[in-house]
Amino acid sequence: MQRREFIKVCAATAAAAAGDLAAADAAPAFYGRAKLVTSSGAPLKASSLPADRNFIFHYPFSTTPCFLLNLGRAARATRLATADQRGYEWKGGVGPRRSIVAYSAICAHQLAYPTKEISFISYRTEKSARNKLGNVIHCCAEHSQYDPAEGARVLAGPAPQPLAAILLEHDPKSDELAAVGTLGGEMFNQFFAKYEMKLALEGAAARVPAAATCVVTELENYCRQQVKC
Ligand code: FES
Repeated sequence: MQRREFIKVCAATAAAAAGDLAAADAAPAFYGRAKLVTSSGAPLKASSLPADRNFIFHYPFSTTPCFLLNLGRAARATRLATADQRGYEWKGGVGPRRSIVAYSAICAHQLAYPTKEISFISYRTEKSARNKLGNVIHCCAEHSQYDPAEGARVLAGPAPQPLAAILLEHDPKSDELAAVGTLGGEMFNQFFAKYEMKLALEGAAARVPAAATCVVTELENYCRQQVKC
């Protein structure tokens, strides 16, 4: 092979390898299995979850909040990518109507999250001056909007990637739900780096894994003030 051709082949091979790396999928992260339960400790039945309301539980750590939503309509599989361009396929909703979804409630922009005092981020069906779309998870900190029916794809605002999806299992016989892992761009390292001191002052240890059962609470009962913009 001539030297010029050899260089061309090497360049093509390197480009192909780079392309393969860029296309590498983000793998699911499996944590402990956590059954979702009501405040009384009874298993949460998927069929009993009201549509279009914000529910919250903490997973995969005891301090990291997640939204549990019944969208009232089937949420179908879709392909997404993290901020560093790792692709992944979100498998859609679970439950009898495939309408139940869960996402980390830590905003992918600058990590706003629901606390017991205040929440800037929530699922909003209604439209407003700042929320012209409706049916989005809207973070009022800087107005990132995510589509919960499409794997929390970013629809507007500065967020660089979808909210991390929480992998749910639904048992059709018992109608019970369990969280088993995450998929997509996790923000937990950044979350703990940013809020470790705050969590410590609140008496919460940072990286304690969620228990084998996670209590699901309506956001309005968990949080004293919801900011709706
Ligand atoms: S922290 Fe949510 S948009 Fe900035």
